[in-house]
Amino acid sequence: MDDAAERRFREGLATFGLGDDDLEAWRAAGLAPEAFDDWLIDRVARRPSGEHARQVYGAEDVHDWARRDILDQLRLGPGDRLLDVGCGGGLLLRDALATGAAATGLDHSPTMVELARRRAPGAEVVEGDAGQLPFPDGAFSAVSMSVVFFFLDDPVGVLRECRRVLQPGGRLAVYTTGAELRGTPAAPEPVASVGHFYGDDELAGLATSAGFAGVAVKHHDGGQLLTAHA
Ligand SMILES: C[S@@+](CC[C@H](N)C(=O)[O-])C[C@H]1O[C@@H](n2cnc3c(N)ncnc32)[C@H](O)[C@@H]1O
Repeated sequence: MDDAAERRFREGLATFGLGDDDLEAWRAAGLAPEAFDDWLIDRVARRPSGEHARQVYGAEDVHDWARRDILDQLRLGPGDRLLDVGCGGGLLLRDALATGAAATGLDHSPTMVELARRRAPGAEVVEGDAGQLPFPDGAFSAVSMSVVFFFLDDPVGVLRECRRVLQPGGRLAVYTTGAELRGTPAAPEPVASVGHFYGDDELAGLATSAGFAGVAVKHHDGGQLLTAHA
């Protein structure tokens, strides 16, 4: 790696508070320089890995506003079975368990799976992809997604999977970042460039296309809460 390249990588890493360990991980990945932004997006948000990601996604305040919105909406209690898709560090799972509900998390990042198992003992946490949920039809009474939807390249396919694993009448709550937050700390570059932003009607239309009923979108402070039932 020449000096100019190293400087560029260090600057990119520093934008997200990453340092020497992460530069080492980038080197070890052995990827072409053009792949750096994509690698960085994975490392910090799309498939988080490394010590910094453990700290960010294990912190009490990570996406706490989204977590609160989802839990207020779902009103979980004993007898509920929640699936949190893209569960990250597992704080939503932990809070769901505290209501008396059973909670299952799914994430495609091994680092996040391991963290969620630690942060939400009592939850089942599995490694897997949102597009192919490894659960039988009707296994859950509620499905949530917090700050994940933005990354999905096939949102209707994922929503169909969510509907499949919900029992009839089961509730969906999805929190995603609205377009007006593009370029802010909630959706910084280069992450924003690979993400998908939707208007409220467009977001509702995706859920309707996936077969959901009672679809609604609440929009506040730049975030969107999509709710529906199977
Ligand atoms: C920005 S983090 C949000 C984590 C957590 N839900 C929260 O609110 O703090 C996005 C999470 O979704 C996961 N994720 C993204 N795309 C996924 C997919 N297709 N299947 C499973 N997990 C996915 C990532 O690994 C990451 O843990």
